[in-house]
Amino acid sequence: MTEMLKIVNLHAEAGEREILRGVDLTINEGETAVLFGPNGSGKSTLLSTIMGYSTTKVTEGEILFKGEDITEMTVDQRAKLGIGMMMQRPPNIYGVRLGDLLNATSGKNSGIIDDAPKFKMERFLDREINVGFSGGEIKRSELLQLTAQKPEFILLDEPESGVDLENIDLIGSKVRELLYDGHGCGGSAQRHVSSLVITHTGQILDYIGADRAYVMKNGRIQCSGRPADLLKDIKEHGYGECAACQTIKL
Ligand SMILES: Nc1ncnc2c1ncn2[C@@H]1O[C@H](COP(=O)(O)OP(=O)(O)OP(=O)(O)O)[C@@H](O)[C@H]1O
Ligand SMILES: [Mg+2]
Repeated sequence: MTEMLKIVNLHAEAGEREILRGVDLTINEGETAVLFGPNGSGKSTLLSTIMGYSTTKVTEGEILFKGEDITEMTVDQRAKLGIGMMMQRPPNIYGVRLGDLLNATSGKNSGIIDDAPKFKMERFLDREINVGFSGGEIKRSELLQLTAQKPEFILLDEPESGVDLENIDLIGSKVRELLYDGHGCGGSAQRHVSSLVITHTGQILDYIGADRAYVMKNGRIQCSGRPADLLKDIKEHGYGECAACQTIKL
């Protein structure tokens, strides 16, 4: 199996504090990995570090994408290689309209603007990105932008958080389309795109067939297991005792 993402002993700082303290993680081609963990454990920091945002600084370790060391690459270099991210709290982008960004990303004749209604985003194309968008609108906008980018590796930071039940269905279906590239489902063998997905509730797992789940605590991956098993363990025991760690060893 081809390794898409390989993270080795990754340490990273944010605000001059060490947040990631030796993360090891490998995700293969077509694999969907889920990341659980308590608030403040470093999950978003890990995704920002993989994407290369300047808010985090790698102090040790390396990130390989399809065998290439991307640890020192800029965000746009990583995006061009095929990594895309749906952020937990994306910034407002003043002066840039959503429609213009979509056209710049996938080309004027790509049909991406015609896709906007499928994301209920047709009324937002002339608006500055995220400015005044509601929580759910931001999620749909982020997903439409990812669809324009068509990444090979997708980082999703709580895609369903703050989204109403009807729109969770929309988000879940669109994430699924992105992962399966419109070619149905049935495990990683049929999936073209790899992903690392953060979720607290696990609702998104009803739409995507996740292969493996990980629990992050204190800036490290503490254990891994089957997504449904880990979620059940966390719901029953919380993160305090981490019953999963006792039963499912790395
Ligand atoms: N720029 C910064 N300056 C100081 N601390 C930071 C900075 N960025 C992140 N942190 C801290 O790093 C820790 C991890 O944050 P992170 O956003 O990765 O958590 P998380 O696991 O995604 O949590 P949540 O589930 O609440 O989204 C938090 O304690 C956060 O306050
Ligand atoms: Mg987070």
